[in-house]
Parts: sequence; structure tokens; C-alpha cells
Amino acid sequence: MTKKVVERVQQLKGTIKVPGDKSISHRAVMFGAIANGTTTVEGFLPGEDCLSTISCFQKLGVKIEQEEESVTVHGKGWEGLRESSEILDVGNSGTTTRLMLGILATRPFHSIVIGDASIAKRPMARVTAPLKQMGAQIDGRNEGDFTPLAIRGGQTKAINYMSPVASAQVKSAILLAGLQSEGVTTVTEPHKSRDHTERMLKAFGVELEENELSVSVRGGQALQGQHVVVPGDISSAAFFLVAGAIIPNSEIKLMNVGVNTTRTGIIDVLLQMGAELEITNEKIINEERMADLTIRTSKLNGIEIGGEIIPRLIDEIPVIAILATQANGTTIIKDAQELKVKETNRIDTVVNQLKLLGANIEATEDGMIIHGPTLLSGGKVASFGDHRIGMSMAIAGLVANQPVEIDEIEAVDVSYPNFFQHLEELI
Ligand code: S3P
Repeated sequence: MTKKVVERVQQLKGTIKVPGDKSISHRAVMFGAIANGTTTVEGFLPGEDCLSTISCFQKLGVKIEQEEESVTVHGKGWEGLRESSEILDVGNSGTTTRLMLGILATRPFHSIVIGDASIAKRPMARVTAPLKQMGAQIDGRNEGDFTPLAIRGGQTKAINYMSPVASAQVKSAILLAGLQSEGVTTVTEPHKSRDHTERMLKAFGVELEENELSVSVRGGQALQGQHVVVPGDISSAAFFLVAGAIIPNSEIKLMNVGVNTTRTGIIDVLLQMGAELEITNEKIINEERMADLTIRTSKLNGIEIGGEIIPRLIDEIPVIAILATQANGTTIIKDAQELKVKETNRIDTVVNQLKLLGANIEATEDGMIIHGPTLLSGGKVASFGDHRIGMSMAIAGLVANQPVEIDEIEAVDVSYPNFFQHLEELI
């Protein structure tokens, strides 16, 4: 376990290109694996989570070549997937687990899916229950709620599923199974979650119907290999957007960041808090919108965050908590119970670690309340193996009055392997 000490800085200035979007990188590999023909991916995120997706699909018989940010997937259609003699290890990746289960649900063979200690605690019944309803055989601890999971897919039938949670992983798993099921599969969510699956399936030639909170696909559809350009990950950009806003004398430009509106809750929050944030050079590539984002040191006010915006910024809440410690007044984050089932229980980890640095923060049943501004103190904190907690603590260290030592910092490799290199470039 590696420790890292982060110290206060006087300013952050410069331009960086954050790594590729994690959600889109996973999907490019998976959709390429079930498509007919070659898929090439440009701007792929070579983080541990997306590498887990590549390794699982290689074990399922798909030829995939990867070098840094460039990937080639030699898809042979749905029938190209083969039973693996090896266990499919998803590492720390919830997206790999849940989307792959949707694909395996319709494949007529047996697979074993396992992950790390964090994955073993994350609820899988949210996908295995509807996939079982469709006809897949899935078993695991607590009737298929926790890894290790065993799955035998086969001929499945369409369902009309009302998801109790706004989750792109749940929606995607069911739609992927729906693509090879008899009839029309519909998923309806309580709020709209990220729609990268819908956009990329269309780019791969799939017909689907979208209606406010519902998406439907007809079974029996094939995908055609494509060239995918992955935008920068707004969830990775978020760390520098917050850092630029709270550190004096700063100006940071982030190039080619994905600004799909199902992901831009962090931009809305920054603007609402009063941040000096500029969006330029907007363009759409492969159905996905991207833009350059420039953030400058800002005077910030606390706000209330809840309701439909939550799925649009769920992964950014740990770093939004740091932002709120530096804003004037109270920030209330509510309706965010989903934080409890992320890589760690992020209500507990964020609140406990920030308290160690002297923040005025308290946990609630569905979020947290933060009173600012507070001059954070130094201290010893940990990531608990959660990449976004590790990076959030690093941002806290940049404004703390004494050094912050972060344990288990290697977790950042899951989504942003060159995070500290980029930070150095801006100091
Ligand atoms: C993701 C969906 C979200 C998000 C995760 C990535 C995806 O999870 O938190 O980091 O790529 O579909 P949920 O589907 O559980 O909300």
C-alpha cells in the first residue's frame, strides 16, 4: 500500500487533457466484442477498470489489441463469444461486472465472475434479478446478489422493467440482454441516468426507442463494428475543476471533456455556486458532445443539491464535498443514497476522512451537510481502495494548512493513472 503526501500550493495554472471517459471506454470494448467486424477506439482510458473489461472479453475468446489509448477489437458478432475455461476477473469494476452480466445472460454457456473485496460487497441483484426474470440462470451468495457469481445464459425473453434505481449499469445490462431476447425489452428509470449505452448502440447500428425515462429495444439485433473517439472524462476533470475554483490565483483549461448533459451535474453545481467556468469549442463526435472547460479561482456559495441532478453527478460528490468546505455557507447534498453502494460507502468515507482534516461536515441518511468555509488542517487519511476518495483527498491537501498524507493512493490507477503527473504539471 503506497502513501502519498500532498502539500498546499500557491496556484494551479496550465492546460491538460484528462484521460478518456471510463464509461465510454468500457462500452467501446464490450460493444466492439459483440459487433461484427473491427472496432477501433481512440482516446481509450488505460485505467485498471477498463483493462479488466479487455481481459474479461479476451478470456471470452475475442481478439483485442491495446496499446496505451488505442484499442482494436476484432468482433465476430454475438456468436463469437466462447465459454471461458478461466474465471472472469472484473477487479474493482462495477461497470464491467454489471454490463458483462447483461451480455452473458443470452450466451449459451457457463461463466464465473469474480472481483476484488470491494466488488464482493456491491449489490448485484439489481441486475441479476431482472436478468433471471428474462430467463438467465444466475447464482451466487444471497441468491445471486454478490460475487462470485455463476451464470449460464441462453434464450431469454423480453421484459418491461421498472428499475427502482436510476442506474446506467442496470439500464445497460437489461438493454444488452434485450438485444438478443424474444420481443421488445423496455427499461424505465425514476430519473434519467447517463445515456452512453443508448448513444453508442445507435452508432453501432442498433435501433432503439427513447421516451423520456424509458428506453426500448427489439430483440435479434446485430451490431456493426465502428471507430469510437472517446472524450475526456468529466468525472476525472471534476478534480481539477474543483481545484481551480478553490486554489488562489488559478486558471486551468481542460481540453476535450465529454459534456453529455446526463453527466454535467458538476458544471451546473459549479455555476450555481458562483464559479468562474467557461465552456468553449463545443462539438459532437460519435453522438457524444465534448468541449474545453476553463476554470478560474472563484468566490463560492453553498447550495442545496438533490433530486434529478444526483445521477448526473453521483461520481463527483466526493470532490463536491471538498468544494463545499471552501464555499460560504451551507451545502446540503440529499437523495444520494446510492453513494452507499459505490466502491466504498462514500457517505461514510467522505465524511469520516474530511472530519480528520477539520471539515465541518455531517452525514445524513441520504447525503451530507457541509458548513463552509473552513481552513482544512493537515493529517493522515486513506482512500480505502476507492480511487475517487484518494483523488478527492489529494485536492483537499492542496488547500490544507499542513501536509495531508493519503494511504492506499495506488487506487487512483483505477480511473486516472496519470493524475499526479497532471497535478505536477499545473503547480
Ligand atoms: C456507470 C454508472 C454509474 C457510475 C459508475 C459508472 C456506468 O453507476 O456511478 O461510475 O458506466 O454505467 P450506476 O449505474 O450504479 O449508477
